[in-house]
Amino acid sequence: MAETLIIAKGDKEDKYKTLLPQIKSIVECEDDTVANMANTAAAIFETFRHLWVGFYIVRQTTGKPGSEELVLGPFQGSIACTRIRKGRGVCGTAWSEGRTLVVPDVDLFPGHIACSSLSRSEIVVPIFNREGKVVGVLDIDSETTDTFDSTDARWLEDICRLIEL
Ligand code: SME
Repeated sequence: MAETLIIAKGDKEDKYKTLLPQIKSIVECEDDTVANMANTAAAIFETFRHLWVGFYIVRQTTGKPGSEELVLGPFQGSIACTRIRKGRGVCGTAWSEGRTLVVPDVDLFPGHIACSSLSRSEIVVPIFNREGKVVGVLDIDSETTDTFDSTDARWLEDICRLIEL
């Protein structure tokens, strides 16, 4: 495995184009999901220097069916909230709706969970298992508004398809 991440100069499209194959080769050599999430979060963070990049994983909280929460997984950035319920915040909404959410201004998203007061915009991408069930999310926060768009959504969805949970 290459130990140095190559970061393209240019726009975000150029950066993702260089980033995706590197993440692919890293995760292809390793079958441990936590290790792959950790390196994926680090590679995205190193490339874009966003405020926070990390994963939340759907975990069973009790023996009761349906009692699931998102629990904090590997990430880069400041300490964050550890548990998010379905339908709560941007992460819990992306989980319940099973779709990528681009939030240009977190102050305008009802119920946004402010893990950091510095966060101004956010993107959350669900991770699906083979049965099409959401098993986790990738969450990225930015210090500026309007950071994320459909280009990020498309590339980050491709990156999330490389993560097997
Ligand atoms: N802002 C997220 C919570 C997670 S932190 O940003 C790391 C949300 O509203 O779900």
